Amino acid sequence: MASSYGYPFEQQHCLSISQFSRPDIETLLSLGEHYLNLDVQKSPDNAVLTGKTLVNLFFENSTRTQKSFEIAGRRLGADVINMSVAQSSVKKGETLLDTAATLNAMNPDILVVRHSASGAPALLAQKLSGSVVNAGDGMHEHPTQALLDALTLRRHFGKDLGGIRIAICGDITHSRVARSDIQLLNILGCEVRLIGPPTLIPADADRWGVEVFHDMETGLDGCDAVMMLRLQLERMSGAFVPSKREYFHFYGLDRSKLAFAKPSAVVMHPGPMNRGVEISSDIADDPEVSLITAQVESGVAIRMGILHALSEAQDGIS
Ligand code: NCD
Repeated sequence: MASSYGYPFEQQHCLSISQFSRPDIETLLSLGEHYLNLDVQKSPDNAVLTGKTLVNLFFENSTRTQKSFEIAGRRLGADVINMSVAQSSVKKGETLLDTAATLNAMNPDILVVRHSASGAPALLAQKLSGSVVNAGDGMHEHPTQALLDALTLRRHFGKDLGGIRIAICGDITHSRVARSDIQLLNILGCEVRLIGPPTLIPADADRWGVEVFHDMETGLDGCDAVMMLRLQLERMSGAFVPSKREYFHFYGLDRSKLAFAKPSAVVMHPGPMNRGVEISSDIADDPEVSLITAQVESGVAIRMGILHALSEAQDGIS
């Protein structure tokens, strides 16, 4: 059956970028683009999730991701239930599989899950009859962030991202955002560079289809976009950088380092930002160069697109 958006999409879950074909990605990005329009987002005609239940299960803290799934679900007409671990039985020692069995018995149509363990959403997907969306698992993947980043880049550079040179800078080792972004940007034909200290770039990163640099001056040369990442201290055991002050000196994005990139270069950050550690405030807040607010807007739109596509695939409308 033809889907309401004209492309086939037959995925039950959204667990990783690697599960998607190029047509799947085009479908999700087109739907995201469709939902960028606020009138479309808020129109009752778009309530494709009416009668469905979306459960947000976050085992790690989140502002943007959790709220944007909540807003996206509500704008599509779903009943949205937010479960944070602080209020759940996990605090009483329940295992992930027992939590899954309990949730399954309540028949949620879509479960959005964030967990500190890589693979937790995939495990839940095996146990649940509904759809599972990975909202970030350990250091593994964050596919909806990658899709919102691609949508943001398309809004700025146009639909064809082929040949766009983009540097992802900072703590690559602990970043699920980087792992998903690298895969998606490669699929879309971007030239991806990684910049960071050797302690924060995995030894096998040069096999990921990227070029690795350890200094901002050579790494940023000719870049169209610069994506800064947070030092993910909560995932580090021991110290990976001598001090935050020294880290900013070598890798923090300020005007002088941004000048190494193209004069037209734009700056991105998935948030939460640590101002003065990986990025200076004047760059983060400069609407001429910063796409950080646009990323948040794209986040709601792409999550509406993802929920829409999964819901139609559940209903066999694809
Ligand atoms: C990221 C995450 O949680 O992986 N944030 C996000 O989803 N917007 C990046 C981070 O925590 O630094």
